[in-house]
Amino acid sequence: MKNLLIDDLQPGMVTAETIYTNRGQMVMDANTTLTPELISKLSYYSIHNVPIMDSEAAPMEQSHKTEISEKNSAAQEPKIQTPTWSRAANPSYAQRVKAKPEFMKFQIEYSKILNLLREIFDGIIENPKAPVNVRQILKDCSTLVASCHTSVEMFDKLHNMRLNDDSVYSHCLNVTLIAMAMGKWMHFSSEDLELVALCGLFHDIGKTSIPDEILNKCSKYTDEEFEMIKQHPLFSYKLLKSLPMDDHVKKAALQHHERCDGSGYPQGLTTDEIDNFAHIIAIADVYDAMTAARSYRSPLCPFQVIDIFEKDGLQKYHPKYILTFLKRIANSYQRNRVLLNNGWSANIVMINPHHLTRPMLQLDDGSVIDMLSKPELEIIKII
Ligand SMILES: [Fe+2]
Repeated sequence: MKNLLIDDLQPGMVTAETIYTNRGQMVMDANTTLTPELISKLSYYSIHNVPIMDSEAAPMEQSHKTEISEKNSAAQEPKIQTPTWSRAANPSYAQRVKAKPEFMKFQIEYSKILNLLREIFDGIIENPKAPVNVRQILKDCSTLVASCHTSVEMFDKLHNMRLNDDSVYSHCLNVTLIAMAMGKWMHFSSEDLELVALCGLFHDIGKTSIPDEILNKCSKYTDEEFEMIKQHPLFSYKLLKSLPMDDHVKKAALQHHERCDGSGYPQGLTTDEIDNFAHIIAIADVYDAMTAARSYRSPLCPFQVIDIFEKDGLQKYHPKYILTFLKRIANSYQRNRVLLNNGWSANIVMINPHHLTRPMLQLDDGSVIDMLSKPELEIIKII
């Protein structure tokens, strides 16, 4: 048996002992074959040293054991998808993203930041006047963003992280990473990039005051529940207001559900009354909510998200930020393969800058169509 650091674990290694958290909660059985998802799970529970069998060969019944171990602990843990990519003859786009070794590294680093964010939130809730040390989390977020070669690579990884954890913490972290990508697209200074990251990290801290049964409710909210949900920007602001933090962070928490046309909440502010950083967080927040898998629907593909933004009314968002954001998203998928609502698959040949959801496509028979002249067609998936 040898004790390995979490960063040195590899899929296929076998645990030599049952693994527990500091508080004695069992995380994994002995004799479990590690997968990228299980390594991510160990990281999620802040397990730093893992006893591994000397032989890396898994015993015969390992895959069965792994399944049982996952089922037994599913109730208390983030849902972890069992990968099917290694067996798939024609892996999908999502499967290809998850098959890359960088994805496992991303998951581990992401989980570490999530733990740190949870500790910071707990500290603020316990003592809302004590100074908060954000150096490490800002450094970790920048490292995570820098580990992705392009913003779309990061977005793809985020889309595929979604099924793992749907908590307030992961939503705040996703919004942070999306907002940082937006900041980079708009050539923010390093100070402003840090500021927009802080705005993302803390924007929904007030949701921790709302009971989980309401937050995670699948059916429609009652009027009373919706009124409570609408209070969360105020809850966030109250938790942050006494802290020695930049005013933009507090305003982003209070105003990220405000809309330029006055249709938002809690104050019904309009464009010029809304803080610039709150404008950015508003877009990142909606994008994250739409691309997340929900119990009642699959995650939406980026072209469907753009379509919803356009139908919902671009006038709700600051033109300077929303147009850059949607163009960048659409252009990121240039040359990708997509599935249409009539079952056809095609390659994107050219994005139409005036109609982002209606690009030129090359079908599998070689013919080229302009989606602008085919209003019945819709891109429903990147494949
Ligand atoms: Fe929110």
